[in-house]
Amino acid sequence: MKAVAFNGSARKGGNTAILLRHVLGELQQEGIETELVELSGAKIHGCVACRECSKNKDGRCGQRNDDGNLFIGKMAAADGILLGSPTYVADISPEIKALIDRACLVGKSNGGMFRRKAGAAVVAVRRAGAIHAFDALNHFFLISEMIIPGSSYWNIAIGREIGDVEKDEEGIQTMKVLGRNMAWLMKKLAA
Ligand SMILES: Cc1cc2nc3c(=O)[nH]c(=O)nc-3n(C[C@H](O)[C@H](O)[C@H](O)COP(=O)(O)O)c2cc1C
Repeated sequence: MKAVAFNGSARKGGNTAILLRHVLGELQQEGIETELVELSGAKIHGCVACRECSKNKDGRCGQRNDDGNLFIGKMAAADGILLGSPTYVADISPEIKALIDRACLVGKSNGGMFRRKAGAAVVAVRRAGAIHAFDALNHFFLISEMIIPGSSYWNIAIGREIGDVEKDEEGIQTMKVLGRNMAWLMKKLAA
């Protein structure tokens, strides 16, 4: 079994990546293979509404000039998908939004590519807007017929400078519980 995590932050290895690594650490302890993908520095444009995905039905996005299909392929191959974003102006980052818009349409155009995979969202925030970002990420899982595990709180942790989130004890605990619940769910879904 494999879980892939996408860090939508413009800052590689920042707070969102730290949170995702806590979740992935729990998954690894349960014997699940993991991969963390940094969207920062990758080429990922937004959906251009060309509808090529619904015409071609080849499991790929019609835009072939960036990393979109590489990432969509990783999502299709995984049993669990984690989407991480920092809070940017009370919302998600443009990089992760570009990925979910494109993956959503490709998935729908190809008979539900992500149906019944496990999916969870993780958000880093300095002060406010995290719930809106968390909801925005969860919209992708829900419309893709995916199954979302819960945690002991919503999957949010507080921090500004890189590493600050480690001081948010409850936030880190939330990530660890999420990882354990995601591993449990992935095993149930595979059974
Ligand atoms: C463009 C931009 C917009 C931001 N907007 C918000 C915001 O609306 N609310 C907030 O609490 N923090 C905001 N922040 C702070 C980040 O969410 C916070 O520093 C987070 O820990 C960054 O995660 P990262 O290290 O993974 O990039 C913003 C940061 C940037 C760069």
